[in-house]
Amino acid sequence: MTYEELFSASKQYLMPNYGRLPIAFAKGEGCFLYDLEGKKFLDFSSGIAVTSLGHAHPAVTAAISEQAGQLLHCSNLFHIPAQTKLAQLLVENSDFDQVLFCNSGAEANEGAIKLARRYAQLTYGPEKHEIITFHNAFHGRTFGALAATPTPKYQEGFAPLTPGFAHAVPGDMESVKALYTEATCAVMLEPIQGEGGVIPFAEEFLQELRAWCTEHQVLLIFDEVQTGCGRTGTLFAYQQFGVIPDIMTLAKGLGNGVPIGAVLAKAEISKVFTPGTHGTTFGGNPLVTAAGVATIEIVKEPAFLQHVQETGAYLQDALQALVQSYDWVKEIRGLGLIQGIVVEKPVANEIVKRCLDKGLIVLVAGANTVRILPPLIVEQQQLDQGVSVLKQAFQEQDQAIQSAATV
Ligand SMILES: Cc1ncc(COP(=O)(O)O)c(C=O)c1O
Repeated sequence: MTYEELFSASKQYLMPNYGRLPIAFAKGEGCFLYDLEGKKFLDFSSGIAVTSLGHAHPAVTAAISEQAGQLLHCSNLFHIPAQTKLAQLLVENSDFDQVLFCNSGAEANEGAIKLARRYAQLTYGPEKHEIITFHNAFHGRTFGALAATPTPKYQEGFAPLTPGFAHAVPGDMESVKALYTEATCAVMLEPIQGEGGVIPFAEEFLQELRAWCTEHQVLLIFDEVQTGCGRTGTLFAYQQFGVIPDIMTLAKGLGNGVPIGAVLAKAEISKVFTPGTHGTTFGGNPLVTAAGVATIEIVKEPAFLQHVQETGAYLQDALQALVQSYDWVKEIRGLGLIQGIVVEKPVANEIVKRCLDKGLIVLVAGANTVRILPPLIVEQQQLDQGVSVLKQAFQEQDQAIQSAATV
């Protein structure tokens, strides 16, 4: 099938909800992807923070192949050894006691919302249901997660939205307090807003919020779908903010490419999910949890996380040159290997396309941020290669901006 045939068939048979770039990949290896015509790309997107160990990592491939040859699926009516093992790995390396598995980030957040409501209603009374989330957040596209995501472009056309959500200003404790009512049961946030533009919450704000939640018997939920599983240089981002949430959600990097999500909580909270209260057919099945075990066994190692911290700091430093070179580049922000280049003009999309033409895959986040999410196995030499392409793309963009200004 040629590219032209593929694009035309995709257009005919697939719903038009994705704005796809005109490329298809045939295979991946480590930090690199190869398209149908054999062109090589350096992948600094990791499938949007998913393939942290790179493409076709031998340990994950072996775990999947072995599990597929034995037992692909078995329902949660039975015990699933790989699921139990992955839960144990997550619990032993976090501050939570129990895990629930599902199939995506949105579904993990649905699980967290249901868990918070049920815990609060059984513990404090039936009026407890409201969840405070933050402007510019992204929690997913299902109805609960969408109501938690107060950006018009995601919500438009889907009314009526799930009730019971209120939205505060990021970093503004007074706006959280102003939304508090007798019905408030939880506050939910991404420690670094990913889709919103790689915007970290300040540590002092999170600490103040943690204390306020405890004082008001409000649960604190961290959506670590994008920041979890080593992306920021610790296994979970919360471990760097000096706060422990009551509930945490994971997905993306948890299985290096298989569809998996998870909700983690203290036993005091998770005990309200008694048999029959929540569930999903595929959640935590043998195949995806075998991949999850293989992934987390590598990512949790201190030397691996140290590598993420070092390469992240190196990348952030190297990107600073862009801020120094162009007055329309505002700042570099992020933690570990989630970094954003914030631009003042609406040119993030153009920069991403320029990079793609030169064989580098990066992403847009929010209205004006170029987001960089290399695989966590990335080496300094590959970072240099990527940064050099970025510098060329920014230089071209600067020329385009200058010539537009003189017209
Ligand atoms: C922080 C966060 N939460 C939730 C989601 C939704 O995850 P999924 O696309 O797997 O449903 C995403 C996806 O980008 C995310 O970044």
